[in-house]
Amino acid sequence: MSSGKAKSGGSSGRGRLAVEMAPAHPEQTGETTPALAGLGWEYAPAPESRDIVSIQPQYGLFVAGEFRPAADGRTFATINPATEEPQAQVAMASMADVDAAVAAARSAYEQVWGPMPGSERAKYLYRIARQLQERAREFAVLESLDNGKPIRESRDVDIPLAAAHFFYYAGWADKLEYAGFGPRPRPLGVAGQVIPWNFPLLMAAWKLAPALAAGNTCVLKPAETTPLTALLLAEVCQQAGLPPGVVNVLTGAGDTGAEVVSHPGVNKVAFTGSTEVGKQIARAVAGTDKKLTLELGGKAANIVFDDAPIEQAVEGIVNGIFFNQGHVCCAGSRLLVQESVADAVVERLQRRLATLRLGDPLDKNTDIGAINSPQQLAKIAELTKAGEAEGAHRWSPACQLPDRGYWFPPTVFTGVSQSHRIAREEIFGPVLSVLTFRTPDEAVVKANNTPYGLSAGIWTDKGSRILSLAQQLRAGVVWANTYNRFDPASPFGGYKESGYGREGGRHGLAAYLNV
Ligand code: NAI
Ligand code: MG
Repeated sequence: MSSGKAKSGGSSGRGRLAVEMAPAHPEQTGETTPALAGLGWEYAPAPESRDIVSIQPQYGLFVAGEFRPAADGRTFATINPATEEPQAQVAMASMADVDAAVAAARSAYEQVWGPMPGSERAKYLYRIARQLQERAREFAVLESLDNGKPIRESRDVDIPLAAAHFFYYAGWADKLEYAGFGPRPRPLGVAGQVIPWNFPLLMAAWKLAPALAAGNTCVLKPAETTPLTALLLAEVCQQAGLPPGVVNVLTGAGDTGAEVVSHPGVNKVAFTGSTEVGKQIARAVAGTDKKLTLELGGKAANIVFDDAPIEQAVEGIVNGIFFNQGHVCCAGSRLLVQESVADAVVERLQRRLATLRLGDPLDKNTDIGAINSPQQLAKIAELTKAGEAEGAHRWSPACQLPDRGYWFPPTVFTGVSQSHRIAREEIFGPVLSVLTFRTPDEAVVKANNTPYGLSAGIWTDKGSRILSLAQQLRAGVVWANTYNRFDPASPFGGYKESGYGREGGRHGLAAYLNV
């Protein structure tokens, strides 16, 4: 029986495809009526309307409170990864624009934002937060169009969390003296912030909200494949009456990012992205007095013990690696499952994966959207090929991919050993590597056997085991009987090659204060 067969649908005319389903298993689909179990479900397309967003043909840089073309007039296209259609031309900032943005940020810092009482700064942050809520659907649709992520995720996760970050840090702006950093913590000045494409608006919020609350001004460089929600956020800053120059948004690629972080007028650098670029940035700021935080890659272990509630663990595994197509730095990309339950867990996981629906990101039923770029797709394809070549067993549910756009089916590798590239390197795609262990000690050793250390998951019935393992895992965030949970009050960041510094919570303020 199959359901949700490939249908071309959706008024937009874009291919809307679904994963071919395996036979329904009542215990896993939640269908309790046996009569329904053999019938199958046909999902009608449920596309979110894109009318709420009007994408302009051209976007400028946001400098000193105004949108303007790049000084040398260069632009680049941003593409919808689900259709390969160009959506807009966006200004490509060069050195002259970086100079202008840093100068605007400096003057806003010295004249307006730095001297302003925290209670006044807070009002602007609250306003931005409320605007994000009011315009949430617009932001969600735009994010899904530019990034390829399912609307269900941009609507329920990215946008609400972005607003929550602004609300949370707005609350700190007038309480910095009580944050535990001494009686008069001072801002650093101008922050240069470079962010990736996997959570474009959310990463902008993670960077801007604490920086602004602490009294800094910002030059933000969004990723080249996902500039649009950062530019809409710039419009929200205008709408909120934020003084010109407090937030500047420079679109462009890696060169623009390199110019922002190495600009002598920048006092603080914050970066989220690849470990490779993180190392380049660390070299670029070495020997300067710039303060640096890096949030880099990961290869997290999601550890399932034999006493774990298996159905919940399977949901957690799915959420851990297939959320956002696996484009998640803290993704649970290595499943470590206790040998005695490994077969049962993998079997249930496969049944569950057969029910995931891949296709149009704007369809509200879609679980797995498009891969963000052809470069990322090529990287995923290369690493999965290496997995097969090194002898691991590859499995995907029957799955028809749309003709256009960048897609990769949910994939599970079993028979993985620690030396395989798919167990060591960050794939950053919907690909899970399954390894087994026998004892808790072996689980810890295997989990820590990675140059990364961003996150980990533990699934077990025993609270004492959770506490003991969490002590031993070299990872910045450890989730227990859940995965990929985020809250603005909770610090997030890595060990080892996953970077340093923390974002979120009181800790996140420290990165933007002279403490
Ligand atoms: P990337 O690290 O090159 O890009 C992230 C951001 O840094 C973008 O805004 C980019 O324009 C900028 N950038 C690139 N080179 C720069 C430089 N020399 N100086 C300053 N800024 C620079 O990541 P990319 O190429 O998009 O993805 C490559 C791999 O990195 C992915 O396959 C994934 O494994 C990992 N990655 C990890 C992320 C995370 O959240 N930890 C996010 C994005 C990618
Ligand atoms: Mg790169």
